[in-house]
Amino acid sequence: MEKRIITTDVTEEDFSLEGNLRPQTLDDYIGQEKTKSTLKVYIEAAKQRHDALDHVLFYGPPGLGKTTLSGIIANEMGVHMKVTSGPAIEKPGEMAAILNNLQEGDILFVDIMIGKGAYARSIRLDLPKFTLVGATTRAGLLSAPLRDRFGVMHHLEFYTHEELKTIIIRSAQVLGVEIDEKGAAEIAKRSRGTPRLANRLLKRVRDFAQVKYDGRITYDVACFALNLL
Ligand code: ADE
Repeated sequence: MEKRIITTDVTEEDFSLEGNLRPQTLDDYIGQEKTKSTLKVYIEAAKQRHDALDHVLFYGPPGLGKTTLSGIIANEMGVHMKVTSGPAIEKPGEMAAILNNLQEGDILFVDIMIGKGAYARSIRLDLPKFTLVGATTRAGLLSAPLRDRFGVMHHLEFYTHEELKTIIIRSAQVLGVEIDEKGAAEIAKRSRGTPRLANRLLKRVRDFAQVKYDGRITYDVACFALNLL
C-alpha cells in the first residue's frame, strides 16, 4: 500500500525522527496537562518510597504520546525502559528473554494490540518488581482482569492548536530550522491534533524551505509545501 503522509501509524522515518524530537522530561512535554500533573505526583511519591511506580495504562488514538510519556517516566524514575508489543511477546522465548533482562524498578512498555492472537497458556515466574506501561487505542476492549492490573489509567487527548504550535516550534528548534508563528500555525492546522503528524509535516515543509526557499519556514512556505502533500 502507498504510504500516506497523513497516516498516524509510526513510519520508519518517524522512528528515528521521534527519537530526537521526543521530550525527555515532563517539564519539556507540551500538553496532556492532567496526565502530566498526576504523573508528577506518582513519580515523586514512588521515588520517595524507593519503590517501583504502579502499572500504568495509556489509552487513546495513535500518535498522541503514549510511548513518549513512558520514556519520560523511565527517565524521571532513573530506570531502563524495555519496549515490546502484544504480537512480539507471543513468540516463544521472546517474553522470557525480555523478562529475564528486567531489573528492579524497570519499565516494560507493551503496545497492546487488540484482536490479534491469544495467549495459549500461562506460567508463573519470579520477577523483580517492575512497572508495566501498557499502551492501547481502546482500553474498553481489554479484558477486565488485564485492565484491573493497572493502578494508573490515563486517556490521552488530542492536542489543541496552541499546543501543536508550541510542539512544532520546539521541534523546529531541535531540528535547527527557523520557523515563524504563522508558519507553525499553518502546520498545526493540518496536524489533526496529533504531534506525530505535526512533526512529520514539519519535516516535509523543512525540505521545501531548504530547496525552494531560503530555509526559513514562513506562512507562504508552509502553505506551498502543505498544498503539495
Ligand atoms: N514531540 C512530540 N510530542 C511532544 C510533546 N507532547 N511535547 C513536546 N514535544 C513533543
